Order: sequence, then C-alpha cells, then structure tokens
Amino acid sequence: MAVENLLIAKSKRDISLISKMSNRHGYITGATGTGKTVTLQVMAESFSRIGVPVFLADVKGDLSGISMPGGGNPKVEERIAQLGLPAYTYGGCPVSFWDIFGEKGHRIRTTISELGPMLISRLLDLNDVQSGNISLMFKVADENGLLLLDMKDFRATLNFLVENADKISTEYGRVSETSIQSIQRNLLALEEQGAEKLFGEPALDIHDMMKVNANGMGMVNILAADRLIMAPKIYSTFLLWMLSELFEQLPEVGDLEKPKMVFFFDEAHLLFTDAPKALLQKVEQVVRLIRSKGVGVYFVTQNPTDVPDSILGQLGNRVQHALRAYTPKDQKVVKAAAETFRANKGVNVEEAITQMGVGEALLSFLGLDGVPEPVERAFICPPHSQIGPIDASKRNEIMNNSALKGKYDQDIDRESAYEVLLKRTQQLEQVQAQQQQQIQQQQMQAQQAKQYQKAASPKMKGVGAGGLAGILGGLGVLGGLGGLGGLGGSPKSAAKNVAKNAGEGLMRGILGSLLK
Ligand SMILES: Nc1ncnc2c1ncn2[C@@H]1O[C@H](COP(=O)(O)OP(=O)(O)OP(=O)(O)O)[C@@H](O)[C@H]1O
Ligand SMILES: [Mg+2]
Repeated sequence: MAVENLLIAKSKRDISLISKMSNRHGYITGATGTGKTVTLQVMAESFSRIGVPVFLADVKGDLSGISMPGGGNPKVEERIAQLGLPAYTYGGCPVSFWDIFGEKGHRIRTTISELGPMLISRLLDLNDVQSGNISLMFKVADENGLLLLDMKDFRATLNFLVENADKISTEYGRVSETSIQSIQRNLLALEEQGAEKLFGEPALDIHDMMKVNANGMGMVNILAADRLIMAPKIYSTFLLWMLSELFEQLPEVGDLEKPKMVFFFDEAHLLFTDAPKALLQKVEQVVRLIRSKGVGVYFVTQNPTDVPDSILGQLGNRVQHALRAYTPKDQKVVKAAAETFRANKGVNVEEAITQMGVGEALLSFLGLDGVPEPVERAFICPPHSQIGPIDASKRNEIMNNSALKGKYDQDIDRESAYEVLLKRTQQLEQVQAQQQQQIQQQQMQAQQAKQYQKAASPKMKGVGAGGLAGILGGLGVLGGLGGLGGLGGSPKSAAKNVAKNAGEGLMRGILGSLLK
C-alpha cells in the first residue's frame, strides 16, 4: 500500500487529494446546480479505485450512475479535451444499494437500543424532561432484560413505564406520565413518516459496507434518500447513527496511508438545524475522534456557514463551488466562505466564488505535512462513471447479483420487550382468572358448608366451631390458597383478602424480577 494522489481538479497544475490525508475530513459546498454532486461522484470513484469503500446518501436520486461506465456525454467529452486528460478511460464502480424502505436497495435497519436515548430524543424532538424519561426507559429496559429492537418494543416499554410509574419512580427516578404521553404522541407522528421501517432486525452490520470487490475496488454504498429526505430528522439522525456506529465498531488505527472508509454526508445542514447543544457536541466529538479510526467524513451542503465553526475547523479538504451573492446576507456568506481558505496571492477568492461556472471550484486540500495548500481556482475533472441515474432494471440487476442479497431482505421478529411484556400480561391475567375461579369455588363451598351445618344442626349440636374449621380444612379450600391462618371473619371477606394478597404478591413477583 502506498500513499496515492487522487486527481480531483486541474488548473495550471493538478489538484489532488492525498489518500493519507483523506481521513482529515472535508466539505463540498456551493449553490444549486454548481456541480457538487458531480464533485462528490469524482471523489467517491477515486476512493473506490484505490480500494476504499464509500458511503453516500443519494438525495436527488442522481448518483446511481456511478455503477456504470460513462461515455456519450458531450459535457464530459468537452471537459476531457479542455483539461487535456489523454489517459482518461470510462469505468463504473462496484455498488451496493441500500434503502430503508427496501425498494431501491437492501433493507437497512437498526434497533431502538442501538440508536440509543440521545438520538431517539432527537428523532422525536423531545425536550429535556422528555429525554430524561427516555433515558430512564432505556435504563429500566436494560436492567430488566427487555430488548428494545423495534417500534413495538418501544411502545410496549413506554406503556409499561406508565402502568408501573409509582414503583419505577421509587427505584429509578421520576416517571412523568405527561412526558410519556407527549413522547407517545410524537412517536405516532414519526410513525406516520415511515419511521417504523427504520427499526428491527436484521440490523445493519456496518462491516457489510466496508467491502472491497475481487478487483480491489472499494464498494460504493448508496443509500436511496430521495424519499427519506422528506423526513429530514429521520434522514439526518440515521446518518448520524451510522457515523457513531462506525466510530464504535472500528478499532483505533491512527493515520493510515489510505482511509478505511469515506462517508459523504449530503444535505449536511439538516444535521445542524435546530440541533440541541448536547447533540452538536456529540457530533463534534465523533467527527474529531473518528479520524483515528480511519474514516473520512465529507459534508456536502450549500454553503460552509451551514456547518458550525467547531466542526468546520476540523474539515481539512475543501471544495467550494460558486455561491450567489444577490442579497447582503448572501454577500456575508460569500465573505465568510472566502475566509475559510488559506490565501493564495494569485486568487481573489471572494470574487471567484461568485463568478465560477458549473464544475469549477475553489479547492484547498491538506498537504502531507497536514497544512492546507493555498487555495486554487480549478476545473473539476469529469467522472469516469455515468453522470445521472441508471434505470430501474439495471438497479434490479445489481441488487440481484449483490453478495448481500437475502441477508437483509426479510424482517426477523425475535422475542423482545413487546413479546416479553405481552407474555407477562397474559400470565398475570391467567393467574388472576384462576384466582377468581378459586375464590368463587371457595365461596360456593363455604355456602354449602353453611347449608350443610344448618341442615345437620339438630343432630350435630356438639360439633361447634372447631367442627366447622375441621370441615373447611378437610375440604382444603383455604389451605390451598395459603397463608390465611385462622378462619377469622366471614368467608367472603377472607376470600377478598386472599385475592388482594395473592394479587399483590404476584405484582411484586413481576416487578420484583423486573426491578431486581
Ligand atoms: N466536473 C464536471 N464535469 C462535467 N460536467 C459537469 C461537472 N460538474 C457538473 N457538471 C454538469 O453540471 C450538471 C449539474 O451538476 P450537479 O448535479 O453536480 O450540481 P449540484 O450542485 O449537485 O446541483 P444540486 O444542488 O441541484 O444538487 C451535471 O449534471 C453535469 O452535466
Ligand atoms: Mg446535487
């Protein structure tokens, strides 16, 4: 393995991304239609060609062409000639298609417990108190062996929390019923956006995205996001989960000659819009630390000011396409964007930003010494693969030939919180029904005994109370229910007591094992 230079753009000189510095993250920004997607495609296929797997979300449905060789595109031919790229050959990349809805790719799911309390709270738009209750729910579930896999489990565990609020509150901290009701309402709204599909098993094994094909090319994992993006919170939370999953699953490797994976986060502003501070800190932390796991993260968004400074500062490899500067606000953004580059005497950045054409950009990549190169105005090379989407039949062919075919297609619904709680409720109901039956039986027998005593009284004058106890004892009614001691009180109230105590004992039994 050697350090490679990935040719991304050309001015008077070649502008290359250095494979060794690619885990230092980056961004691709620019106004609509300025060439961001094509730049992303050029970068992604360059990584694939050196054996680095890539993940990207296809927000507009125009990236599947990366799986096919290019050719027959006049704009591309024009650019090949303009940039003087004689050795240029067309070629596609090996692709795995993914889709939360399972239509345009392999099903991609995670579990509620893998998403964790913070991201669930983000997904549900919860306030601090509500988030606190989510954390509590995770704790209760965790300590009591209630697996949180899918939405059913989530709902059942929330119900369980409400039904046993008093007992859980004393052991774990306050369960707020109003908070849980709002959570349930938000959950309903989320489900209406199709979030149910996101959860369940088989959950994604992130290593399935880190494959290299027989020719040594990195797999390009394309997540169909055209429908997903309609629910921006689900989209951004899911991508963030993937990042944190990569972070958690991969070992520390330091700076490698080439990254283990590159992750493109399109429409990245969605990640940061209205994000609570705690979440932003978490994103910042993941971005900072994931580098040493060999993962490069590239944010794609309209302008760099969409990305908070603390994160922007960590993005070493920068591509800025044209921005519009119609309004004073636009002009401010242009100025801010210009200031993010290391100056180059020969380039008037602020002027260039508004003047550049499609597929033209200001670029600054990190040098081997970790210092950004001075900014250059340059033309992005054309991709070797097809620009724009492939048709459905080609996509199906790729999906059918995929090594992952079958692995994620069917839902697996193993026993988890929902089933466990359902079973317990059913058992509880069964025991209660049995008790009821026993009580009725006992009342009947007591009644019969009374009548018998009445009928026999002229002959049994000497039997007395002891005799009655003997009869009941012999019938074994109360003994069977246990723990009643003497026969004080009427049979009716005794029966009531039996039911109450046994019922309480049973509740304790259920909660006892749940609450340890
Ligand atoms: N490097 C390039 N070489 C050749 N043609 C290009 C290049 N970059 C862009 N183009 C042409 O410009 C068109 C628009 O580019 P692209 O789709 O990348 O824009 P975008 O910034 O992603 O737009 P949007 O914000 O709408 O997603 C492409 O379909 C392609 O025809
Ligand atoms: Mg685009």
